Amino acid sequence: MAVRAVYPGSFDPLTNGHLDLIERSLRIFDDVIVAVVTNPAKTSLFSDVERVEMIREATRDLGKIEVVIFDGLLVDLVARVGAKAIIRGLRAVSDFEYEFQMALMNRKLREEIEAVFLMPSEAYSYISSRLIKEVAGYGGSVTGLVPVGVEKRLIEKFQRR
Ligand code: PNS
Repeated sequence: MAVRAVYPGSFDPLTNGHLDLIERSLRIFDDVIVAVVTNPAKTSLFSDVERVEMIREATRDLGKIEVVIFDGLLVDLVARVGAKAIIRGLRAVSDFEYEFQMALMNRKLREEIEAVFLMPSEAYSYISSRLIKEVAGYGGSVTGLVPVGVEKRLIEKFQRR
């Protein structure tokens, strides 16, 4: 039976660190659902649809990837799609506390779902979507840190502002 995982996040926008984790996940799991959270209370630079499009474009050649938008509890989505695990990335110790709390809360909600933590390549360990937006917003180069399609959209987005 195929073993499926869900990789959730805001992906505002997708970075090469995220992409690296998606590729690593596919070495372990048969298929991976990338789940883009929609949160009307949180302002994002890119709309849900734009975030999904960017991930689809960047993962087109990987296969065994599905990209969905979700709201509500993550564990409910994981159960609904028949996945066994939630993938999250750990870049540095500073990520640990937030991830630890979420993993234990998710376990409390649905004990049968495991959290699996993967480390991105060290080349991407300092990248976050927040920093990417900040640098791109001030006109700095993010080449090599995000997929080409994401870089294009960042430039367009900030030029229009
Ligand atoms: O990329 P992010 O913003 O760190 O991702 C956070 C995310 C989407 C994984 C988290 O906010 C989440 O799971 N949201 C869905 C609502 C939920 O299940 N909340 C309880 C988590 S313990």
